Amino acid sequence: MRVLARVGVGPLCSAARAVIPCFWRGKYFSSGREPAENQVTPMLRHLVYKIKATGPITVAEYMKEVLTNPAKGYYVYRDMLGEKGDFITSPEISQIFGELLGIWFISEWMATGKNAAFQLVELGPGRGTLSGDILRVFSQLGSVLKNCDISIHLVEVSEKLSEIQALTLTEEKVPLERNPGSPAYMKGVTKSGIPISWYRDLQDVPKGYSFYLAHEFFDVLPVHKFQKTPQGWREVFIDIDPQASDKLRFVLAPCVTPAEVFIQSDETRDHVEVCPEAGVIIQELSQRIALTGGAALIADYGHDGTKTDTFRGFCGHKLHDVLIAPGTADLTADVDFSYLRRMAEGKVASLGPIKQQTFLKNMGIDVRLKVLADKSDEPSRQQLLQGYDMLMNPKKMGERFHFFALLPHQRLHGGSHPMNACQSKPSPSPVAGFGELAWR
Ligand SMILES: C[S@@+](CC[C@H](N)C(=O)[O-])C[C@H]1O[C@@H](n2cnc3c(N)ncnc32)[C@H](O)[C@@H]1O
Repeated sequence: MRVLARVGVGPLCSAARAVIPCFWRGKYFSSGREPAENQVTPMLRHLVYKIKATGPITVAEYMKEVLTNPAKGYYVYRDMLGEKGDFITSPEISQIFGELLGIWFISEWMATGKNAAFQLVELGPGRGTLSGDILRVFSQLGSVLKNCDISIHLVEVSEKLSEIQALTLTEEKVPLERNPGSPAYMKGVTKSGIPISWYRDLQDVPKGYSFYLAHEFFDVLPVHKFQKTPQGWREVFIDIDPQASDKLRFVLAPCVTPAEVFIQSDETRDHVEVCPEAGVIIQELSQRIALTGGAALIADYGHDGTKTDTFRGFCGHKLHDVLIAPGTADLTADVDFSYLRRMAEGKVASLGPIKQQTFLKNMGIDVRLKVLADKSDEPSRQQLLQGYDMLMNPKKMGERFHFFALLPHQRLHGGSHPMNACQSKPSPSPVAGFGELAWR
């Protein structure tokens, strides 16, 4: 594996994208970090005690414990992203990804009347790379955003990652204000002088005109799994293997469980994954957007209500058995965008899911690539091209990842802008990314 150098290309250039962009949660390479096969981890011990005390647990409870348990959760105390970690994400692959998303938010802000202030709220910001790239675009387009009062709000449960985000994003001369007991557990000022705050829950983020961003966030939220049987739907649980007291196994519930209400009555698949936590977050986002305006942009791998068994683990850039050495590997399930759309309950309009390749193309990735490549030396140019290929190639991330947006109804159907005297209806401008980019 080759570690790539910093790309010195133009004013929008960011910090180095660290790796040859080959490792993402869908492609399996070795990083040298081997999965801890058959290891009795502290998390496994905790789960075995729990199951012995209260019986088998749902897959959702298992995912929640393994990923975000405050004492031992996979996400809580480690940096799992990048070359030495377990997977890589689009913002870590190329600066262009975040730049185009920054332009998307500015475009929506302009299309909806250039509000005097907005909050940028990122859910699950990883290393803070994506927000960093977006903030750089905001600085570069300072003349467009001038007089707009911007604040940044990060929703992050991981202590370790929030520290890395602060390092990436904040001005070190301004000390961080830490207040572990308060909803905003950390506050600071970004390198470009914008107030930034951290929360553990979206509910704690102040309400107000906001742009919400969730990249590879919904796929780590806990899913319930169900199997169709001759007796009807049965939920999948996790139990201790009777043959080995330090091993776990999947079992089917003997009777109906409460989570079955989440299955649609006309469901035709024989195996279904449902993520109620995603539903709650979408409802909260929808209510906020309907009430105070703004938009949500969600990017993740997923499907539109068609896939069945997608629950899987990643460790050291390899697929990992989800029940082995819990707490040492990432757990994930594809996002069901049809469920997210249903959960918006008509409060807001939704667009997508559309393929990452299409969204980025519509956002002008080719133009941006050319600008950067023309200013680069040969190694940096190769690096940019590799990053582009990883993001856009249908066999890599181009078709596997999708973009989905929530917008106020009036944004799509008109009503927020003064009417053109010649028209009987207002004509809202198209939403960037979801249609071809019109250069004006
Ligand atoms: C797969 S990583 C994606 C990171 C980043 N968005 C990226 O694309 O590089 C998931 C992120 O969500 C955070 N996370 C996981 N569960 C969460 C939860 N329930 N609430 C808030 N953040 C969570 C993780 O700590 C991590 O920052």
